Amino acid sequence: MAEKNQSQYQPPESIGYHRSDQESLHTMEDEEAKRKKRMKWTIGIVAFIIFQVVQALFFVLVIMKFKSPKFGVAEFDVQSLTVGTQASPSFNTSFVTPIRIKNTNWGPFKYDASTVNFTYGGVQVGQAIIPKSKANFKSTKKINVNVTLSSANLPNDSNLGSDLSSGVITLNSQGELKGKVTVMFMFKKRKTSQMNCTMAINTATKAVQSLSCK
Ligand SMILES: *[C@@H]1O[C@H](CO)[C@@H](O)[C@H](O)[C@H]1NC(C)=O
Ligand SMILES: *[C@@H]1O[C@H](CO)[C@@H](O)[C@H](O)[C@H]1NC(C)=O
Ligand SMILES: *[C@@H]1O[C@H](CO)[C@@H](O)[C@H](O)[C@H]1NC(C)=O
Ligand SMILES: *[C@@H]1O[C@H](CO)[C@@H](O)[C@H](O)[C@H]1NC(C)=O
Ligand SMILES: *[C@@H]1O[C@H](CO)[C@@H](O)[C@H](O)[C@H]1NC(C)=O
Repeated sequence: MAEKNQSQYQPPESIGYHRSDQESLHTMEDEEAKRKKRMKWTIGIVAFIIFQVVQALFFVLVIMKFKSPKFGVAEFDVQSLTVGTQASPSFNTSFVTPIRIKNTNWGPFKYDASTVNFTYGGVQVGQAIIPKSKANFKSTKKINVNVTLSSANLPNDSNLGSDLSSGVITLNSQGELKGKVTVMFMFKKRKTSQMNCTMAINTATKAVQSLSCK
C-alpha cells in the first residue's frame, strides 16, 4: 500500500536533474519503513514464541501434572453404638460413612471397585464396599457407604476393656483406590490413592470427637 502511494506521488515529469536526490530520499524513507516493518515482525514473532513457550510450560507444568487423588472419610454421625462392659468388653456400631475422593487433576479419575477396612487395634472389625466409578476433573466425588462394625473378631486380650472404661474407642480405616486419570481425552496415567484415617468415637455421647486422615 505504502509503495503504491509513493509511485503515484512521484509524477514522471519530476524525474529531472534532482532525480538522484529524490531517489536517495525515497531510498532512505523506504529503508526506514522497511526497518520499522522488520521491527514489527520481530516483535510479533518474539511475542508469539513467548506465548507458545508459556502455553507449553502451562501444559507441561499444570495440565500434565498427574496427582494421586485424595481418598478419605469426612465428618459423620454415629447412628448406633452399643458397648459391653469392662469385664466383658464388646461393641457394635453402624453409621453412614461419607467417603470423599478429591480429584485435583485436569481430567477424570476412573477407579475400580475397592474395599475400605475398618480396624480396631490392628484387627479388622468391618468393611465398606466402594463401587467402581469415577471422580470428575477438579472435583470431589462423594459417596455414602453404610458400615456395621463389630468387635466379635477381636482377641480377648485387646485393649477394648480399658478403652471402654476411658469412654473412647479409636478406629482406623484403610483403603486403596486404583484407577486411571485421563487428561485431554488421551493422556492416561495409572494412579493409586491411599486412605489411612483415624477416628475416635466417644462411647457416652456417640459422637466422633476426632477424625484425621493422612
Ligand atoms: C453385638 O452383636 C452381636 C451379634 O450381632 C451380639 O452377640 C452382641 O451381644 C452385641 N454386642 C453388644 C454390645 O450389643
Ligand atoms: C443405609 O442405611 C439406611 C438405613 O439405616 C438406608 O436408608 C440407606 O438406604 C442405606 N444406604 C445404603 C447405600 O445402603
Ligand atoms: C483368651 O482366649 C483364649 C482362648 O481363645 C483363652 O485360652 C485365654 O485364657 C483367654 N484369655 C483371657 C484373658 O480371657
Ligand atoms: C482389606 O482387607 C482385605 C482382607 O479382608 C485385604 O485383602 C485387603 O488388602 C485389605 N485392604 C487394605 C487397604 O488394607
Ligand atoms: C496409618 O496411620 C497410622 C498413624 O496415624 C500409622 O501408624 C499407620 O502405620 C498408617 N498405616 C498405613 C498403612 O500407612
